[in-house]
Amino acid sequence: MKTLSEESLLLPNPLREGLVEERIPEPAAMVIFGASGDLARRKLLPALYSLTRDRLLPARFAVLGFGRATLTDDAFREEMRRGCEEFARRRPVDPALWAAFARNVFYQQGAYDDPAAFLRLKVRLEEIEHTLGLPGNRVFYLSTPPSAFAPVIRSLGHANLAPKPAPGQPFSRVIIEKPFGIDLQTARALNTEVHDILAEQQIYRIDHYLGKETVQNLLVFRFANGIFEPLWNNHFVDHVQITGSETVGVEARGGYFEQAGSLRDMVQNHLLQVLSLAAMEPPVAFEADAVRDEKLKVLKALRFIPESDFEHQVVRAQYAAGSIGGQTVPGYRSEPDVSPRSTTETFVALKLFIDSWRWAGVPFYLRSGKRMPKRVTEIAIQFKEAPHLLFGKRGETIRPNVLSIRIQPDEGIALNFGSKLPGPAMEIAPVSMEFRYGSSFGVEPPEAYERLLLDCLLGDGTLFTRGDEVEASWSWVSRIHQRWAAEVAAGRTTLDSYPAGSWGPEAADRMLAADGRAWRLP
Ligand code: BG6
Repeated sequence: MKTLSEESLLLPNPLREGLVEERIPEPAAMVIFGASGDLARRKLLPALYSLTRDRLLPARFAVLGFGRATLTDDAFREEMRRGCEEFARRRPVDPALWAAFARNVFYQQGAYDDPAAFLRLKVRLEEIEHTLGLPGNRVFYLSTPPSAFAPVIRSLGHANLAPKPAPGQPFSRVIIEKPFGIDLQTARALNTEVHDILAEQQIYRIDHYLGKETVQNLLVFRFANGIFEPLWNNHFVDHVQITGSETVGVEARGGYFEQAGSLRDMVQNHLLQVLSLAAMEPPVAFEADAVRDEKLKVLKALRFIPESDFEHQVVRAQYAAGSIGGQTVPGYRSEPDVSPRSTTETFVALKLFIDSWRWAGVPFYLRSGKRMPKRVTEIAIQFKEAPHLLFGKRGETIRPNVLSIRIQPDEGIALNFGSKLPGPAMEIAPVSMEFRYGSSFGVEPPEAYERLLLDCLLGDGTLFTRGDEVEASWSWVSRIHQRWAAEVAAGRTTLDSYPAGSWGPEAADRMLAADGRAWRLP
């Protein structure tokens, strides 16, 4: 049976013209470190399979999984096939296509800091390249625990598996999963380690939010249309809200989350990346460094939150037991691998300023939380009120214009404005003009990992985070962590609590109410 999106693909739709990807990468091999882990099974192999299905990978392409678990090639293939069946965008898996794809999928066991294992890896890789006629282009994907990032890169260096770029030579690129450091110091140290072995242009620090179709569309929306950019500044914008809410709790990742918390897990990377795209100046070209230069300026212009305003600009909280969609769920402290006295935040709300001409005086409110009533990621640009209201009492229902960019789910863009209600009286009501990906293009947006893996194979780093960006965002975020650590040291805490299934603690509402504003109900 065809899925809805497959059926809609058969219908004529002028908006789909030009949707065909014409960039096919050169033949290459991808080595996945941490291949027996969850990411390979849930995201990486399903993305590679869907790319193959859409004929976006080169005809000659190999995958070599590397991990600590002992597995045969066939056992690895079987595990990956199950992953694709469960998670690939292009499902069900086509048996003939899978058989052809899986023939070039291999597995090699080894430890990340064992030079002998890396020499064996090199021999195996060269054998595969020789047999398949691959030119030696390589992508190394580090989907290991973060503690293995530096050892793997050192081992790659010792085995001379990822030489620096040279004209006429095959490419070697390294994709590094998150988190890239846990604070400014560790991010800097990791940058130093990787730069010892690799050139910055070989390093692809992944933030899967940048692979999301609507995040990319933000650039097109802003810079391919003439009418929005003139309004995109402090003359017209009252404030900006960025929300990243999830209904899930910490699931089986309590151990990791205890060390991370929402500020590290969602804000330092995903939300600050989204913010930098929403707030940046137009780049001189749509090229990796030109775009990243402008994002970096935003991150560097984030004003450090002064001590005196800390309590008015930072709210953190943890979910208590509650209910979501009629189901009772436990509080964070009762989750597996979480301390019953944990002070880790599962919600954070921030008010921040960007010290630039464009944004002087415009507050950006960010919030991210687990166990909220709805899964939503959106940017809402709230414009200032009309300078003079003509409609007296009848105009009391007029709301300021809001442009909301929905990153997920229901990807799209909506503009709210006031409209006259039909009829003889001058009644005014808020209405919305909407664009939705699903209905306009008749296709589901591709998975973020598909886009990012393809871009790396093509050597396009635009949607990856550069080393200086990572340091700039840690530099801002680490100050907040330091302040929290000082609170704990002083025996007090600003950690609040909210029932699972709510929009966060009252303190987050008070933060906006103090400015005469309120959070949007997404
Ligand atoms: C990950 C975080 O980076 O992003 C998770 O570690 C979070 O805690 C996830 O759930 C959210 O991603 P998405 O794509 O589901 O919004």
